[in-house]
Amino acid sequence: MVTVLSDAYIIGAGETKFGELWEKSLRELAVEAGLRAVENAGIYSRDVEVLYGSNSLAGIINGQENIGALLSDFSGIAENHIPAIRIEASTASGGAAVRQAYLAVKSGEYDLVMVGGVEKMTDVYGSETLDLTSSVLDREWEAFFGGTPAALAAITARKYMADFKVDKEALAMISVNDHLNASKNPDAHYRNKITIEQAMNSTPVAEPLNLMDCSPITDGAAAILVASEKYMKKNKLDGIRILSSADAQDYLAVHSRKSMYGLDSAKIASQKALSKAGMKIDDVSFVELHDSYSIYGLLELEDLGFAEKGKAKDLVYDEIKLNGRIPVNPSGGLKAKGNPFGATGVGQFVEAYMQLKEKAGERQVKGAKNAMLHSMGGTGSMSVVHMVGDA
Ligand code: COA
Repeated sequence: MVTVLSDAYIIGAGETKFGELWEKSLRELAVEAGLRAVENAGIYSRDVEVLYGSNSLAGIINGQENIGALLSDFSGIAENHIPAIRIEASTASGGAAVRQAYLAVKSGEYDLVMVGGVEKMTDVYGSETLDLTSSVLDREWEAFFGGTPAALAAITARKYMADFKVDKEALAMISVNDHLNASKNPDAHYRNKITIEQAMNSTPVAEPLNLMDCSPITDGAAAILVASEKYMKKNKLDGIRILSSADAQDYLAVHSRKSMYGLDSAKIASQKALSKAGMKIDDVSFVELHDSYSIYGLLELEDLGFAEKGKAKDLVYDEIKLNGRIPVNPSGGLKAKGNPFGATGVGQFVEAYMQLKEKAGERQVKGAKNAMLHSMGGTGSMSVVHMVGDA
């Protein structure tokens, strides 16, 4: 017997505003995003068969584990007794959760899956936040010796800049582009445009990186509904298609990797995702990448396949703009839309949904047919790459 696998579609998407949202709790944010996705899809929430909750740090920031059960209970679907499970892969949790939804629908096990990503990060003070965000690194061999996310990104940047003669301006341009795009995104954490000078001269964080090279500490939630073709057609809905999905792991500690600036997880996941979708890198209409630090924006452009190693600097002045050859982060990216760990990767799908449905307003990428979405854990320990396209 030949088994025909179902295609998986995103039939609804919604998110909260990203930012410092002190007036809202973890559960309120999650439910707000979930309801927006349900409303956007025009379905009944009772149709959802499984809920995957993407979250990274609620256990240590908010003292709340068992996120799946919490979300199911507070969103009012507990009475349906559907499974509700948390998926955690550091800052790649969002991509990882969507991949599980994709596999679940593709296998035929479920016809409708909700993925909800949430993180509430601003309820603790700066120094404590540094310690808590360092928990996604190798605590014993990196964090214990002072290797915070910013410190490791800075060391990587120094080596990369020295080896490939890349100047600070190339890094700054990644942030300038993010802020420009975020100024057109009402959900973004920072909506102010920044100049190259501001990006180059802001407060130092870890030499050579300054405040404008760092993604902020953000609260927020995002949700999508992943459905089978059968469910979509039966209910006369439409959506965008998940063309392919792939993930790859690398060593957790940066010092164990082959190269400090080679993001092998991104490279492998991108190659697999493109090949599964039957696409080449030049076919990609736009990319949402995981630039938690500006240096990663450059490295990812290279390892995802858009430029050779050391050459991303040639793309950052024109080609990454909304109307450029390969628009980067129309949402505003991690630098300016924000990086609420568990919600970040799911938020990339919300952006892709808006773009491919031509509902992205001022930041619309004209004629976009598909998107590459890259969700990355920590300093590159894991990557999940999805290709999504017109239904
Ligand atoms: N970009 C732009 N502005 C930022 C910012 C950022 N990344 N982070 C903070 N700000 C602004 C705040 O809005 C505030 O502005 P205001 O004075 O006008 O209100 C000001 O800078 C100070 O904010 P504060 O919250 O006190 O900053 P901080 O010094 O505690 O934190 C960082 C700044 C860079 C250390 C923090 O954002 C950070 O750690 N970011 C990286 C997170 C991370 O590592 N993520 C990936 C993990 S794998």
